[in-house]
Amino acid sequence: MSAFRSLAGSELEKTCDKASEEIKRSKSLVVASHIDADGLTSAGIACTALERLGKSYEPLFFRQLDGPALEQVADRGADLVIFTDLGSGMLQEISDLKLRSVIADHHKPTPAPDTRGITHINPHLAGADGATQLSGSGVAFLLARSMAKGNDDLSALAIVGAVGDLQDMASGKLLGINREVLDVASGAGAISWYRDIKLFGRQTRPVFKMLEYSQDPYIPGLSGDEDACIAFLKEMGVRLGGEKWRRWIDLNQDEKSRVVSALVRRGLRSGLSSIKLERLVGEVYTLLKEHEGTELRDASEYSTLLNATARYGYSDTGLKVCMGDRNAALDDARTLLAQHRQNLVNGIKLVSKQGMAKKRSIQYFDAGDAILDTIVGIVAGMCFQVADRSMPILAFATTPEGLLKVSARGTQDLVRSGLDLAEAMSLAAGKVGGAGGGHNVAAGATIPKEARDEFLEIVDAAVGSQISRNKKTI
Ligand code: C5P
Ligand code: ZN
Repeated sequence: MSAFRSLAGSELEKTCDKASEEIKRSKSLVVASHIDADGLTSAGIACTALERLGKSYEPLFFRQLDGPALEQVADRGADLVIFTDLGSGMLQEISDLKLRSVIADHHKPTPAPDTRGITHINPHLAGADGATQLSGSGVAFLLARSMAKGNDDLSALAIVGAVGDLQDMASGKLLGINREVLDVASGAGAISWYRDIKLFGRQTRPVFKMLEYSQDPYIPGLSGDEDACIAFLKEMGVRLGGEKWRRWIDLNQDEKSRVVSALVRRGLRSGLSSIKLERLVGEVYTLLKEHEGTELRDASEYSTLLNATARYGYSDTGLKVCMGDRNAALDDARTLLAQHRQNLVNGIKLVSKQGMAKKRSIQYFDAGDAILDTIVGIVAGMCFQVADRSMPILAFATTPEGLLKVSARGTQDLVRSGLDLAEAMSLAAGKVGGAGGGHNVAAGATIPKEARDEFLEIVDAAVGSQISRNKKTI
């Protein structure tokens, strides 16, 4: 029986079986994926499953799947293309190019009249929300399970991808089909989960650094202040270190509880809403086959390590780590991670200095070429810690091709009020000669440079009407 109770006998499962038959029939394969953590883990799952079948394949990574990217894929002349974590927004274009393909994606599909040659696997087609219930790597994992028995270990990568796409943020834990992936992962001895503090760096950072760098939630009086964090821990009777700095995982249960309670008290005293504080504690996911105290042991730290590779053009490094390289590729990824962290800090500083401009229903900043277009979305998401949470954030950055990249980020509260950034981005980009899409809570677009102000107007109006439409229907 299927481990996926909700999918047993479903169309989604049948499509996976059909896709895996097509894969087995094909001699030459291309795996085309996205340059973020979910895209890398998706490709890691697909490529490992192919390797186990003895198939040869060529991995390709794209910041987005546009016309030129599709041409590059088509030029490889493969029997079959497996698109992971992208493709559902380009069904018509893929079909027009007569690319025989399997699309394993979780982005909102763009309707297409003719999808000949495409086997399309997407949770939206099964009535599940691809923003919260299954990631691209989750879809790739469903496919890998159809391809062969013995792929259950790859579930760990599917969890890293889901966490990388922030699918656990809305409710502090993974939900929907992701929950069933977790069950498989637990059965395979690959993942365990429990409630714990949700701050980044539990495995690798000294506790005082983990507190100092806390962004989500931002803890007034502690975030950004090393001395205050050290004093706070001393006050709690938590020893900072002996021979080595103590990390969160080195604290005993009693120390952990004392710190969490004190953080909550402190947060409430400084007027932090209970909603924000709820995000302080939640489910965390541990990769049991990885060494304790490494980035790979924790799904959230693993996904950041991956983001530090492909987003800077080093997708081969990230893919090798996903496929098990714990030597040179992991060393390279760690070097890239240090640089990535610095870039994020610089990005946030820039936005704080420059400030955010407001329209009626959205706020935005334009980073020009001061923030890389591939990480400007991460910076935008982090800005919610200090920015107004009642409107979505749009962030602009110039691409190497001289176009304008837009990243849009919302909050779960806004989504509950009707926000759908994928719809707004795709509509507005289409109107100004660009392309866009994504998820309700996080979306992006690429548009001509001179179209910025017109684009902002259209998105502002679209978001305004999404939210007021929703008010009327409540
Ligand atoms: O690039 P960024 O992180 O802002 O992308 C957010 C989401 O929007 C991603 O899921 C991405 O695939 C999607 N996106 C898109 N079309 C674009 C840019 C981004 O569908 N042109
Ligand atoms: Zn994804």
